Amino acid sequence: MSVHPPKLQVQLNERLQKLKEIFMQKFGEVPLFYAYAPGRVNLIGEHIDYCGYAVLPMAIEQNILAAVSVNETQDIQLANTNPQYTDFTVSTGDIRIDRANPQWQYYFLCGVKGVQEHLGLTALAGMRCVVDGTVPASSGLSSSSALVCCAGLLTVEANRKSLSKVVLAEICARSERYIGTEGGGMDQSISFLAEEGTAKLLEFNPLRATDVKLPDEAVFVIANCCVEMNKAATSHFNIRVVECRIATKLLAKSKGLDWSRLLKLGEVQAELAVSLEEMVQIVEEVLHPEPYSREEICQCLGITLESLCSDILSPNTQHVTHFKLYQRAKHVYSEAARVLQFKAVCEQAADGAVRRLGELMQESHASCRDLYECSCPELDQLVDTCLRSGAAGSRLTGAGWGGCVVSMVPTDRLDSFLLKVRESYYRPDARRAALEKQSLFVTKPGGGAAVLFEA
Ligand code: GLA
Repeated sequence: MSVHPPKLQVQLNERLQKLKEIFMQKFGEVPLFYAYAPGRVNLIGEHIDYCGYAVLPMAIEQNILAAVSVNETQDIQLANTNPQYTDFTVSTGDIRIDRANPQWQYYFLCGVKGVQEHLGLTALAGMRCVVDGTVPASSGLSSSSALVCCAGLLTVEANRKSLSKVVLAEICARSERYIGTEGGGMDQSISFLAEEGTAKLLEFNPLRATDVKLPDEAVFVIANCCVEMNKAATSHFNIRVVECRIATKLLAKSKGLDWSRLLKLGEVQAELAVSLEEMVQIVEEVLHPEPYSREEICQCLGITLESLCSDILSPNTQHVTHFKLYQRAKHVYSEAARVLQFKAVCEQAADGAVRRLGELMQESHASCRDLYECSCPELDQLVDTCLRSGAAGSRLTGAGWGGCVVSMVPTDRLDSFLLKVRESYYRPDARRAALEKQSLFVTKPGGGAAVLFEA
């Protein structure tokens, strides 16, 4: 695998040609280069990357593509081929990200700012960019991270610098947090490290990617439940991050560890040097299923309410009064174990692999629904529909609370599967039926982010 994102000379395909024309109409000049970064589908390992655990995503074919020209001005001028996203101009010396208002351009600026800070660039090149996205927004396929990654990559290129895929992934994971969501690094890492034809086990600290060959006799199908979820617009996501952080501290304290230093559930396991199965037992022994009040947490840790609010809770979780620590920690440790089992089954490629992988996906969905509570009735209904339509396994993918499910479908059942899901989930509802085309599709592991020049 090459270390840097590829730079390719290409003949413009229809999409690039169209983007070039829009760019010329808008700015009266030709683009200097193009850059793209893909969205992703996570096959298993939900809400555990920010706890330090490995996940198993693959890039999808849909991506964020941008046409770029570079100039001597101090401005970044942005436009989008989708009229829903308005034009935006910002001075390179004044890049600010408005958390209260997570609009599309702020994701772009996260990528720019991350690269600027990493490289210590005092003067950034002026740029004109037209962005064209094919990743459906607010659907759990990581359109926002693809935008951050695309912006990071094109900023490096526009400023004639070079950064490795791993460094770019780490910069973009960190800088997307300027928007306010405390995601892990899965989405940005797969967007850079993906390779066509293979899913990846991503491990963090340090970031590593290992190929995982998926079974030949099944395909993965993405289906959108048609409930939109913008994770930056609500506090659901950060509440889960904070619950995991508090659970980390309570578990660590109960085992006599230096709890104030530890932030991730994975660190507790590393310190105790026990298996994931043992961590599940420890959760059952130490934590109780009833939600914890702030007072109880303060009492357990021997800290004041002020210190809980300022040191442990994040800005958009200050209002939360009760925290489900047992359920969240149990999900994280058991889901982390399922990721490793999934990879092992793929590697063995024995008879019955598809059935076993399907079971792991089912267990993952049930845990997301019941313990992590990041599903919603439509996602659950769609997962049931997919199973009844012939999937070996089906689960929500991405942050949840709306968005997509991913199903593993034996290749010989694919046609009837698509037909049945269409008939039972999309057709009966006019709104869903209208969205069906971009909502139900087969996907293959796609390649990672790249820079393109017209040949
Ligand atoms: C979002 C975050 C990821 C990950 C998933 C849930 O996509 O950006 O880092 O936490 O949710 O698995």
